[in-house]
Amino acid sequence: MTITAHRNLKKSTVTTPSVAFEPQGAPASAPASVVTWVKEIAALTKPDAIHWCDGSPREWDQLTKLMVDNGTLTRLNAEHRPYSFLARSDPNDVARVEARTFICSVDEADAGPTNNWRDPSEMRKTLTGLFEGSMRGRTMFVIPFSMGPLGSPLAKLGVQVTDSPYVVASMGIMTRMGSAALALIGDDTEWVPAVHSVGAPLLESEKDVPWPSNETKYITHFPETREIWSFGSAYGGNALLAKKSFALRIASVIARDEGWLAEHMLILKVTNPRGRVFHLAAAFPSACGKTNLAMLKPSIPGWKVETIGDDIAWLRPGADGRLRAINPEAGFFGVAPGTSAQTNSTAIDTIWGNTIFTNVALREDGDVWWEGLTDKAPDNLTDWQGNPYDPASGRPAAHPNSRFTVAASQCPTIADTWDDPNGVVIDAIIFGGRRRSNVPLVVEARDWNHGVFMGANISSERTAAAEGTVGELRRDPFAMMPFCGYNMADHWAHWLKIGDNLRGTASLPRIFQVNWFRRGDDGRFLWPGFAENSRVLAWILERVDGQVAADETPIGLVPTPTGIDRAGLEITDEDFTELFEIDNAKWLDELDDTEKFFSRFGDRLPEEIVNQLDTAREKLRAR
Ligand code: OXD
Ligand code: MN
Repeated sequence: MTITAHRNLKKSTVTTPSVAFEPQGAPASAPASVVTWVKEIAALTKPDAIHWCDGSPREWDQLTKLMVDNGTLTRLNAEHRPYSFLARSDPNDVARVEARTFICSVDEADAGPTNNWRDPSEMRKTLTGLFEGSMRGRTMFVIPFSMGPLGSPLAKLGVQVTDSPYVVASMGIMTRMGSAALALIGDDTEWVPAVHSVGAPLLESEKDVPWPSNETKYITHFPETREIWSFGSAYGGNALLAKKSFALRIASVIARDEGWLAEHMLILKVTNPRGRVFHLAAAFPSACGKTNLAMLKPSIPGWKVETIGDDIAWLRPGADGRLRAINPEAGFFGVAPGTSAQTNSTAIDTIWGNTIFTNVALREDGDVWWEGLTDKAPDNLTDWQGNPYDPASGRPAAHPNSRFTVAASQCPTIADTWDDPNGVVIDAIIFGGRRRSNVPLVVEARDWNHGVFMGANISSERTAAAEGTVGELRRDPFAMMPFCGYNMADHWAHWLKIGDNLRGTASLPRIFQVNWFRRGDDGRFLWPGFAENSRVLAWILERVDGQVAADETPIGLVPTPTGIDRAGLEITDEDFTELFEIDNAKWLDELDDTEKFFSRFGDRLPEEIVNQLDTAREKLRAR
């Protein structure tokens, strides 16, 4: 939306918008299916007004002004951060609420043991009660959006209604939102309806709060009817329903039914020193550095890395039988803490302006700050809750899950093909997690089915992206545990089937597992990570290109001792060896744990996954 208009503004040309917000009704061309649905939702939620979003710069200016006036947003100092804002959430509304996220399939077994299931008709009753009058005193915004380039054969359409202008502004950055998306909805077009309310109706005499929300939260999905209903939270992952709710949970179900994949993956374009172009898709659990990897600046000469997406990939077999991918999103909702000129200078360049920051700290000069941005906290910070920051408090100034929301088009390393309607051909798939021990720096799967087993086996230390104890190890198969809209075991079966279908028509992407987070006995990271991860990507792509050998191990193929370029890297031989150590006893223990986890899926577990587990055990025992 506005981003295009403002993108190239120099800092000195910034003006203050002054137009007041006035709700606009449905355009004459609005499709009947959407108009009827909007009327139904309005009859239930009883907003004071309805505004149909067009996605224009004017609308953005009006809404941001409205939010500055009512205290939801603070305008940042335009000298430092033009067209940018800080939002401070309610302290109880700072992360995804997995315990309040529900999959309401008709049959409980279709949701599987790792999702919270509720009977759809029971849930409908609950939601009707909650949404009844929930928008009183507020404006209901209608947001038509496209996930994927407008009109792309790989894209899907949706319409979200919300009573949160913060959600509208964020959706304007994260999706292709407004009139152009609405124009694509015809009488027979499928679109996903998504209803969102912060659950805080305003009585006439009541003064609004800057971040309305409700202690009761429900993030619900109806896979059969492809519907989303979210109540009580305005936090990104719970409220920007195009993202996790649609592009992963509902899209994964659509993908299962239509023969494609909706995955929690970044997409990279990599060019090797010989000029060959590759595309990689990589799945990592939340807050494991996907945005950093998506914007990586290689430390090794001759390699070029460009960004296509940082969180979600939709992968579909193309007419040529190869797997093609699009990034369905149009922006980045990145974790701020730890992002710096050293760890991700591309992100720092991306967020120069036109950015909404949420729950970061505010500097005295009207710019933003978070832990890790600079070594030392500047003086006189205001913390993420709006209080003067006391560095002696031991608490962080920015919330650990504070975020930046910014258009992908602002990223200096965005690939020219990032919004190609036909997507890009994927050459390799990577699975990763945050693991202190056991998992080597990189391992290649022996074949597709072994790769699917690797994906099913991902576990990772918990981060702040969702509620829960940070650091605890949890299973996160395919990094999709919180995002798969159906039974995870069926998801593995679907991956196996995609492999069976593609095999024989064209070459399948190769599959790898990586772990940047392995530590020595003293707790130190063994691998420097960040830009140096390009050395691992280079090995992966040299394998794809048939240029390097690998050593067989019971858990897959690893680089030969000289396979990874270590020139200029300060890492001892001992640490490097430890990065690849495979401790048989520990792996066998881990596989016992895997078996226990798999047993939760009963007879939905594909036989091939059981075979892979048996093979892994046999190989480890024979070693
Ligand atoms: C995210 C997440 O915000 O995975 O991308 O939690
Ligand atoms: Mn994510």
